Amino acid sequence: MCSATCSAPPETSSGTNFLIETRDLWHVYDGGVNALQGANLQIQPGGFVAIVGSNGSGKTTLIKHFNGLLKPTSGSVLVNGMDTCRTRTSQLARVIGFVFQNPDHQIFASTVLEETIFGLKQMGVVSEEAQERTTRALQAVGLYEMRNRHPRQLSLGQRQRLATASVLALETQVLVLDEPTTGQDFVARRQIMSLAMDLNRQGRTILVVTHDMTLVAEYATRVIVMKAGQVLLDATPKEVFSRDDILRQTGLKVPPVVELGRGLGAIDRAATPLTLNELYEVIVSKLPPGKASSKSLRHKPLGTRGQ
Ligand SMILES: Nc1ncnc2c1ncn2[C@@H]1O[C@H](COP(=O)(O)OP(=O)(O)O)[C@@H](O)[C@H]1O
Ligand SMILES: [Mg+2]
Repeated sequence: MCSATCSAPPETSSGTNFLIETRDLWHVYDGGVNALQGANLQIQPGGFVAIVGSNGSGKTTLIKHFNGLLKPTSGSVLVNGMDTCRTRTSQLARVIGFVFQNPDHQIFASTVLEETIFGLKQMGVVSEEAQERTTRALQAVGLYEMRNRHPRQLSLGQRQRLATASVLALETQVLVLDEPTTGQDFVARRQIMSLAMDLNRQGRTILVVTHDMTLVAEYATRVIVMKAGQVLLDATPKEVFSRDDILRQTGLKVPPVVELGRGLGAIDRAATPLTLNELYEVIVSKLPPGKASSKSLRHKPLGTRGQ
């Protein structure tokens, strides 16, 4: 599946502790599209990282390099210090779990259960443990009751969750999700994201490609902003949402909470509220003494940041 062979000399991590590092990464597809044009980034273990940018900015191409699905045309990618050019995809798959944007590219078994257990069998996990992990993964995505159905009987949102379960069951150190909330209703979106958050709390690193800026505000610890095959900015959500120059260049829109916070005026950019609770705190802090109520929001926001 690799679109290019690796010709560069082997890279080493030279003592760094990055989980994933790309160095001057270029990827040119057959036909000459320069999808990545010198992307540099470093991802630390344990983060919840959002990768954002307009359509065609190279996000999917970038993350496909992390599990060796694509190889650099030039430059390098190191995963746990392993140069992906010289590491078998099967070895990278033990570190990086990858949920595709379109679940139908990933699903091929004839029942939900078989689909979920397939990767574990491939990895040689013994039957009893494979069964346990499969049950846990299907319960986590809310599909256990449908385990005997054919994947074609599931809705698109359910197939997306099935694809997530198959990768979850592998219990990899890193979970990469490409547009996981696209096509999901409100409840499924919350289910997927709180699952990712739980995994992150347990120490897994989460990488999410998304257009959903509310998701970024609520969950991400870092945001990588892509433009034209390069990393334009790698910063916290607060920093990204306060950089009008970056937002303008990439066409990204701040989430409604951030917009509302700004619209209320006089809010220091460094204190940009990212969730409804944060917005509430900012508003209360601006009220004259005696006007502030100690009641917290009746409707809690989805995100759990700062709670
Ligand atoms: N398989 C492919 N063959 C040729 N060009 C591709 C292929 N996949 C993506 N591209 C092109 O590479 C660029 C980056 O695409 P992609 O990584 O999918 O961006 P994003 O995920 O940010 O939307 C786009 O111009 C896209 O049309
Ligand atoms: Mg994409």
